[in-house]
Amino acid sequence: MKEKALLAVSFGTSHEDTRQKTIGAVEQALSDAFGGWQVEAAYTSPTIRRILAGRGQAVPSPEEAMEAMAAQGVRRLLVQPTHLICGEEYDKLCKAVWQREGLFERVQMGQPLLYDLEDYKAVAQAVCEALPVEPEEALVLMGHGTPHPMNAVYPALQYVFQSLGMGHVFLGTVEGWPDGPDVVARVQAAGYRKAALAPLMLVAGDHAKNDMAGPEPDSWKSLLEGAGLPVRCILQGLGELEAIQQMYVEHARRALAAWQD
Ligand code: CO
Repeated sequence: MKEKALLAVSFGTSHEDTRQKTIGAVEQALSDAFGGWQVEAAYTSPTIRRILAGRGQAVPSPEEAMEAMAAQGVRRLLVQPTHLICGEEYDKLCKAVWQREGLFERVQMGQPLLYDLEDYKAVAQAVCEALPVEPEEALVLMGHGTPHPMNAVYPALQYVFQSLGMGHVFLGTVEGWPDGPDVVARVQAAGYRKAALAPLMLVAGDHAKNDMAGPEPDSWKSLLEGAGLPVRCILQGLGELEAIQQMYVEHARRALAAWQD
């Protein structure tokens, strides 16, 4: 066990097809960037951890990972979440981390993907570059959304897309505001003839496969088709994009620089 360790903390997913390509790829990018550091993974979702443990793929909680690392002699800990916003999961993680700060000489935490305005711009660029559209095609993005006040990231990011000349991008959320019907109404009002549909989430898991691209009448695919727009579904999590993986590396580096001052 090395003295310096980086803990990559994700919500987690039980969808193995997307897990390696997204969460796994971000963990790998962090591992590549932090040579000499021990890099470990933890998931915040108890449900996901239970499902994975049942398959013999146990992943620790952040609490368990921190306690194990401290017991093994880690002195400096850098925690980098792969969460998208400073929402509920991030708040809970901060609490868990700072409650265990005394187990180490130094603990520092990186910010999630969408922290400041520069992050919003970088994510908007990365998404538009990765998901080119055809003429008359809107790019509809499904974010997660939350009752937490940080849901405001989504309408703010929509504004950033517009201000950067990416007016063909329409962002909504599955569990927050704006919702699917709101987004479909805006796409229709803007006169688009077809839509590309993709998740604005780290993984393309349950929400992407079902709430976004599923056959149910209230999936976003069905809503758009109901509005007369042919839909092209892109089941790709943000974690698959190298530019996004590197943003997490940057955030971890930033946190490290802050503690070395
Ligand atoms: Co959800």
